[in-house]
Amino acid sequence: MLPLPYKRELHCHIIPGVDDGSPEMKYSVDYMNALHECGVERIIFTPHHTEPSFMNTPTIIGPLFQELKYTCANLEIPIECEDYSFEYRLDESFINMMNSGKWGEESCQLRPLKDRYILIENSFQQPLLNLDDVIYKLQDKGWYLIMAHPERYHYYSSRGLKSYEHLVDLGVELQCNILSFSGYYGESTQKTAYRLLDEGLISFLGSDLHNLHHVQLIKKFLQSKDYAEIRPELVSMIQNDKI
Ligand SMILES: [Fe+2]
Repeated sequence: MLPLPYKRELHCHIIPGVDDGSPEMKYSVDYMNALHECGVERIIFTPHHTEPSFMNTPTIIGPLFQELKYTCANLEIPIECEDYSFEYRLDESFINMMNSGKWGEESCQLRPLKDRYILIENSFQQPLLNLDDVIYKLQDKGWYLIMAHPERYHYYSSRGLKSYEHLVDLGVELQCNILSFSGYYGESTQKTAYRLLDEGLISFLGSDLHNLHHVQLIKKFLQSKDYAEIRPELVSMIQNDKI
């Protein structure tokens, strides 16, 4: 099995019991071990921040992050639990928070992955009508935006590369999921991931690991000929280890 093309994971759902990822600590430990086997050395955890289903805040996540870090150290899992952030869903409630001026409140404060980078995602149904404005506003506040798995948004992929080029022109960096290349999310997502790779539009890669099934599929993909072919290109393109 070839290792993942990065050593720092920056999109995964391993903090236990806070979203649709790991249900409890023993699973989190399994996922950590699996990512280590895949070549990961550091992790920035990104639980969902989605209203109303996953209203996670630093008050909720902080202690669990410390507990996971402590557990992994005790078990001598050689991965650094570097930090935690969130996968921020850009939807109406996000806009309401922005417009309410409540950003100073703990539940609304953006917590970066690193420096001023934040991971954002769109709804899978449709993008915000005023997405460009939201992007400008966030950038104006000094945030660098990384959009999670844009290849999975069918309203983008059905338009060829146009939407992706537009996002990149706006200064948004794109993060693909490793399993998109395997076909796990469907043929159109897979095709789009390859096109983004061919056009050099990908800046980050993530496992978006939620469960044991993802672990198994990632390991399987890392053993494939398809992965061996694209790995050198991914290694040279993605920035996970550089921010
Ligand atoms: Fe995710």
